[in-house]
Amino acid sequence: MDHFTYREGILHAEDIPLPALAAQVGTPFYVYAQSTLTHHYHVFVDAFARHDIHNILVAYAVKANSNIAVLKCLAQSGAGADVVSAGELARALHAGIPAKRIVFSGVGKTSDELAFALRQGIGMINVESIPELHLLNQVAQDCQMTAPVSIRINPDVDAQTHAKIATGKKETKFGINIDQAPAVFALGQSLPHLAMIGVDMHIGSQLTQLEPFATATDLLLDMVRHLRNQGHAISHIDLGGGLGISYDQDQAPPPSPDAYAAVLAPKIKGIDATIAFEPGRLIAGNAGLLVSQVIYEKPTAAKNFLIIDAAMNDLMRPALYDAHHEIQPVCAQDADHLVDVVGPVCETGDIFAKQIMLPHLKEGDLVALRSAGAYGAVMASEYNTRPLIPEVMVYQDRWALIRRRPTFEEMIERESFAPWQTTPSTTSNP
Ligand code: LLP
Repeated sequence: MDHFTYREGILHAEDIPLPALAAQVGTPFYVYAQSTLTHHYHVFVDAFARHDIHNILVAYAVKANSNIAVLKCLAQSGAGADVVSAGELARALHAGIPAKRIVFSGVGKTSDELAFALRQGIGMINVESIPELHLLNQVAQDCQMTAPVSIRINPDVDAQTHAKIATGKKETKFGINIDQAPAVFALGQSLPHLAMIGVDMHIGSQLTQLEPFATATDLLLDMVRHLRNQGHAISHIDLGGGLGISYDQDQAPPPSPDAYAAVLAPKIKGIDATIAFEPGRLIAGNAGLLVSQVIYEKPTAAKNFLIIDAAMNDLMRPALYDAHHEIQPVCAQDADHLVDVVGPVCETGDIFAKQIMLPHLKEGDLVALRSAGAYGAVMASEYNTRPLIPEVMVYQDRWALIRRRPTFEEMIERESFAPWQTTPSTTSNP
């Protein structure tokens, strides 16, 4: 469910017509619907509440969309956060997410990042390796603190998703092999500055089947029982994120949060621990659109290329994962024209969609790329010296620019000439 709907043939973000927004902000830009963000958060929480499960922490995966206004609205809804860098932690804190509700994931945290997290009073550090365990113990000692630790377990489960975003198989770099987990736990217990209180997993992203979640959760909970039998007090169990969203209205939608909760609830009911989840895409994905305008159509002997002013640097997912994002005309018309939709970047892979039917669009007409709220703006780059595009938040009939487009001067002033390039020199280069 989202808040992007056609009204009298014009696509709106909540109550705002997109052409009006485009006229004020300029294209391309991302637009997020605050009501969709908060709705998705509540759908997730309510799915478990219906099973009378309330001991959950929804730690929104900040990497999906880290704009501080997105984080603010989730903070105000009561969400925690899953962060994977000191920068994401700084954003989450800035947006008002309490440190105690933040978990720190990631396979390569540095000592500076760990020290920063500890000093901020982070709720949990998900440790992914033995070297990280030792480093964290040392950093905690230096900070004269005790670090709260969960061990991220790699359950060796196939998430049945795109290979580049599957993280639960033992061949990937993530987590600690489930067979080694008890020994790693015991090691952690022996280190004086660690409080070994949790287990964690995350098996992949854009999962469209529930079975891998069920299998991995069973394995993780078996491990919890085993660790408890060995005397470890496990008070935090993190089941990660990964539930997929619908990218294509013509395909069967992935399981809903209700279906997900129905599978997990019997397993986690009554467990004396906080159950954390780290959903990212589920909350932000369908809360955002990328709005772009047609530069022109280029008919060639082979195809009609619709060249739009957004490109692969603004939304990398199609080029990186062959991901599908539905493209809709902002002003509804009959789709009677076969085109490839491409961006202006000088790469053949700068393609958003191949051979799709759209209306006959002309220069200046607007299109919306759907499901772009997660892993869109956050993965953008300035390739081809294209400025990072603005982000807009809409709430009912109000809108606000939550990241503005930088000027070329701002982009260039971050760089400098090397001093020897600007001072006269008596020697010349060989
Ligand atoms: N927790 C951890 C430890 C993660 O690594 C991730 C995502 C999440 C939670 C959130 O997963 P989600 O609920 O959003 O599926 N750039 C890719 C997705 C990469 C996901 C990386 N980790 C894409 O555009 O599809």
